[in-house]
Amino acid sequence: MTVGAPGGEVVLETDRLLLRPWRVAEAVVQRELWTERDPRVPPHRRIDAEGHPTVADLEDAIRTDEVWSNGLLAVERKVSRDVVGYCGLVDDGRVAAGEPELAFELLRRVWRRGYATEASAAVLDWARASGYERLWATVWDWNTASRRVLAKVGFAETGRTEVDAERGTTLMTTRRL
Ligand SMILES: CC(C)(COP(=O)(O)OP(=O)(O)OC[C@H]1O[C@@H](n2cnc3c(N)ncnc32)[C@H](O)[C@@H]1OP(=O)(O)O)[C@@H](O)C(=O)NCCC(=O)NCCS
Repeated sequence: MTVGAPGGEVVLETDRLLLRPWRVAEAVVQRELWTERDPRVPPHRRIDAEGHPTVADLEDAIRTDEVWSNGLLAVERKVSRDVVGYCGLVDDGRVAAGEPELAFELLRRVWRRGYATEASAAVLDWARASGYERLWATVWDWNTASRRVLAKVGFAETGRTEVDAERGTTLMTTRRL
């Protein structure tokens, strides 16, 4: 993995992928991710009855919310030059101050090719180079693919869980850098 910062922007490069800030025109990819979400994810992460977030809502967020430029990076395939999802860090102090969460989500059509694992490994290097010493990740117990990715990049379950009677149990995992 190499880290470049042309114009101050973060760019992570792996064998097959570039991880870099979202462009406004790529809001359509984010909308597609929203439409593909598993029905078990909570309502605030699903498209509502009025169709929000719309592509325009997502465009606004890309323009204004730093998470889309410096946190949850667009995953671009180097050969086909298409953006297929995001992978990155959310540092909102939800789990522990100064210890961000790793998050990733990819379009279904590219699942099971090792992209999430490859992107996550680059994000781990980036986090380490940025001075972080520990990352967290939360995952539904039924989310086998995500649990497998987290295990492959070295996250361990802590035994801490949150139980939601309808949706399942959220597992708290962590990794020292
Ligand atoms: C989680 C996600 C990003 C994984 O992306 P991916 O690029 O397919 O992941 P990888 O190919 O790197 O690895 C997936 C691993 O899970 C395994 N896997 C995938 N689906 C599986 C399933 N239904 N049952 C068992 N194992 C499964 C794969 O075999 C692979 O493991 P392996 O390398 O040991 O064979 C993708 O499934 C996704 O976007 N899911 C929806 C969003 C999400 O759940 N995000 C995480 C929230 S915590």
